[in-house]
Amino acid sequence: MSTAPRIAIYPGSFDPLTNGHVDIVRRGARLFDGIVVAVLQNLDKSPLFTVGERCDLVRAVFADLPQVEADSFAGLLVDYARQRRASAIVRGLRAVSDFEYEMQMALMNRRLSPEIETVFMMPAEAYTYVSSRLVKEIFALGGTVTGLVPPLVEARLREKLATR
Ligand code: PNS
Repeated sequence: MSTAPRIAIYPGSFDPLTNGHVDIVRRGARLFDGIVVAVLQNLDKSPLFTVGERCDLVRAVFADLPQVEADSFAGLLVDYARQRRASAIVRGLRAVSDFEYEMQMALMNRRLSPEIETVFMMPAEAYTYVSSRLVKEIFALGGTVTGLVPPLVEARLREKLATR
């Protein structure tokens, strides 16, 4: 009997990709046949990295995992998930403070597309306080982000800062 590959979408801003994100993707890659790291094309925000740069970083960081793909999307996440024939949306839950927002999104997405399940995963404890927003703030103010982001992301952050 042949079964369709189980594809999960891991959506987010990833500006930039942190070690918390990396941890979730690596865990997700063990559960699904394919995991698509889907970078939101968000017109409202003024990002540090372009969507293309963020996708390139994802590709480079997960070069050792052929089941991980980087892509970008605009519009409704459930429409994109359906288009990619995904059965699940993966989201990381770091702390109770994440829960309310995540539950609201998961239930809204379920209402919009009942066949797609949201799967919550917890990162390793070491990353429960890591966020892209704090990484950017710390880096911009001269603090060290070593260990919070992949070395390649840290190098790209340094390049960004130098050109600003
Ligand atoms: O990394 P983020 O910013 O927490 O990710 C949020 C994201 C991309 C998952 C969310 O903003 C999203 O899904 N946006 C796409 C538009 C959409 O589907 N909105 C309805 C969500 S219920």
